[in-house]
Amino acid sequence: MAILEVQNIKKNFGKNEVLKGIGFELEKGEVLTIIGSSGSGKTTLLRCLNYLEVPDYGKIVVDGNTVFDSEEKNEYTEANIRNLRLHFGLVFQSFNLFPQYTVLDNIMLAPKLKVKEGIKNKTILPQEKNQELNRIREKALALLEMVGLSDKVDAYPFQLSGGQQQRVAIARALALEPDILCFDEPTSALDPELTVEVLRVIKDLKKTGRTMVIVTHEMEFARNVSDRIIYMRDGVVEASGTPEEIFGNSENAYLQQFLNSGKEF
Ligand SMILES: Nc1ncnc2c1ncn2[C@@H]1O[C@H](COP(=O)(O)OP(=O)(O)OP(=O)(O)O)[C@@H](O)[C@H]1O
Ligand SMILES: [Mg+2]
Repeated sequence: MAILEVQNIKKNFGKNEVLKGIGFELEKGEVLTIIGSSGSGKTTLLRCLNYLEVPDYGKIVVDGNTVFDSEEKNEYTEANIRNLRLHFGLVFQSFNLFPQYTVLDNIMLAPKLKVKEGIKNKTILPQEKNQELNRIREKALALLEMVGLSDKVDAYPFQLSGGQQQRVAIARALALEPDILCFDEPTSALDPELTVEVLRVIKDLKKTGRTMVIVTHEMEFARNVSDRIIYMRDGVVEASGTPEEIFGNSENAYLQQFLNSGKEF
C-alpha cells in the first residue's frame, strides 16, 4: 500500500490557479523528486502537504489515514494541525534554524514540546518526563552523528557554514520521526562544495529507506537519487516516471525544453 496518496489537489491564490489537480502516489522507502520551472507550483504543493496552506480541493492519505479531504468537514484546531504535520518533516531552502539556540537545542526543541504536550494530555506520566527527555537527547545526538556534526553539538547557527546549517535542519526535521521527509530546494542557497555534503546526507537517508519528496533544480542529483520523478508545469503534472523515462523522454516538448535549459531555472 502506498504510504502517501495525493489526489487531485487544487489550490488557488485569488484568481491565480496555482495547482490544477495534482495527483501522485508514493511507496514507503521511495524517493520522489519534483522538478519544474519557477512558478510551476512546486513549493505550494509541498506547503499543502505540510498544512502551511490548505488546499481548495483534493485528498491526502498517509499510510491509509486520510489527513485531508476537501469533501469532508476538517477540524483545523491548532492541536489537530500540529498532529497532522507530524506525518511530514520539511526542510526549506533557507535553513530557518533558531539563532538563539545551540545546534542540539534546535533539534530537541520540537520533541521537547511534544513531551510537554503529552504530559498535559496525560499520554505521558510526569514521572516519565526525565526518561523521555533523555531519549530525546540521545536521539538528537545520534541524528547529529548521522549528518556528520557530532563536533558541533554546542555551536550556535551563526558559527556554522550554510551546508552545516542545512544538515542541522535535516536532523531537526528527522527528530520528530516523520513518515515522509520533504525538501524544498535544499541546496539552492549553497555554494557547490557545500551542496555536495548536503546531497550526500540525502543519499545516505535513501539508503536507510527514508521516504522522501524532494523539490530540486539539481538534475544530476534527481537522476541519481529518485525512484520517480514528477515534472510539474503550470500547476499540473506534465510528465512522471522513472529517471530513465523522464530523462529519456523525447515526446514531451515542454519537458525537453526544461531539461535542455540547464540550470537557468
Ligand atoms: N502565498 C501566496 N499568495 C499568492 N500567490 C502565491 C503564494 N504562494 C505562491 N503564490 C503563487 O503561486 C505560483 C507558484 O508558486 P510556487 O512558489 O509554488 O512555485 P515554485 O514552483 O516553487 O517556483 P520556484 O521554482 O521559483 O521556487 C506563483 O505564481 C506564485 O506567485
Ligand atoms: Mg519553490
